[in-house]
Amino acid sequence: MTISEYNFAGKKAIVRVDFNVPLNENGEITDDTRIRGALPTLKKIIADGGAAIIMSHMGKPKGKVNPKLSLGQIRAAVEKALGCPVSFAPDCAKAQDAAKALKMGEALMLENLRYYPEEEGKPVGIDKEDPAYEEAKKAMKASQKEFAKTLASYADCYVMDAFGTAHRKHASTAVIADYFDADNKMLGFLMEKEVQAVDNVLSNIKRPFVAIMGGSKVSSKIGIIQNLLGKVDKLILCGGMTYTFSKAHGGEIGDSIVELDKLDVALDVEKTAKENGVELVLGVDSVCCTGYDFGTFSVKPGAQIKVFPSNAIEAGWDGLDAGPESRKKFAEAIKGAKTILWNGPAGCFECEDFTAGSRAVGEAVAQATAEGAFSLIGGGDSVACCTKFGLTDKVSYISTGGGALLEAIEGKVLPGVAAIKG
Ligand code: 3PG
Repeated sequence: MTISEYNFAGKKAIVRVDFNVPLNENGEITDDTRIRGALPTLKKIIADGGAAIIMSHMGKPKGKVNPKLSLGQIRAAVEKALGCPVSFAPDCAKAQDAAKALKMGEALMLENLRYYPEEEGKPVGIDKEDPAYEEAKKAMKASQKEFAKTLASYADCYVMDAFGTAHRKHASTAVIADYFDADNKMLGFLMEKEVQAVDNVLSNIKRPFVAIMGGSKVSSKIGIIQNLLGKVDKLILCGGMTYTFSKAHGGEIGDSIVELDKLDVALDVEKTAKENGVELVLGVDSVCCTGYDFGTFSVKPGAQIKVFPSNAIEAGWDGLDAGPESRKKFAEAIKGAKTILWNGPAGCFECEDFTAGSRAVGEAVAQATAEGAFSLIGGGDSVACCTKFGLTDKVSYISTGGGALLEAIEGKVLPGVAAIKG
């Protein structure tokens, strides 16, 4: 069943969305990309004359109630965006009455699914080494099914539209689908669009294909980096992982972030790139600082800022952004690309002093897009960069997925897709 074919008239649809949106200290949404992304699906349900039961997680409450991660904080924003009444059920597993009372043409939002450990389905409070772990896991899987069945009982049909969470095999993203027949479960419009965007990159690669991977750790990106080395023509590695590469070659990196246990991994990446004929592009200089506050994204009073070669950073200095030579090198590598994937910033872009690297990458991506490239941007930070630098309309597609996008690009079948398509 596809969502375009389905007529929601008179039906209650339970829709898994990813409303794990960033909030500021006052609980206000700072980036509503994910809410806007789910609107076409939700609006179709309402416009058809159906009712939507909206469910999502927010953050990682680890199976416990945490008011700071309450979806109640965004109910009003969702109501405004959707343009119909949206009520709120403060306990997602006890929403039977609210679901029953829901009128056609209206929506009901459930509280954070991850207040229940059953959503993720991992046993809590027990170590993997504990001999009782396997039993606890079995018991949790059984309760996860019950939890999914309860959610399913609220509705006549199920729509999976949470691309950002589609790489998780959770109660609401996958298990719930077992409680609906094939004619009453489907992917939402956002899922369809995201899957198509990944397909544009993977099945129809126009070369040169340039991937830009940023962020602080090699370890969190190594799977996708290795995978991309089999696909791309050029791979730009930027952000904090630069220093693991510098260190692997015996460079001085001052106080910059480094994964000392991943130096061999960095050398391996370089070796594979060479074997595969992939041009690996690394930063050569860095904007460094003597006192950066990672909590408030600001330079501490009295701290200094200076550019060093990325392999000769003095002690007491922390590499926080790509330097001018690196920026030129990145822009040059992106120029002329026909397919582009960008995930992860080139520096601590949250602070004005360290935005130049990510801005240079973003602008080069926009320029290549204007010249005919297909550019796919994913991951909260790169998306935030595009918004900050006014580039959202200048790239081909902005994904709502971070980890999910990377897994899809790796060619993995996402559990959220498999649950619907088999
Ligand atoms: C995300 O923000 O990437 C998604 O909402 C998934 O969140 P998770 O990594 O906590 O599962």
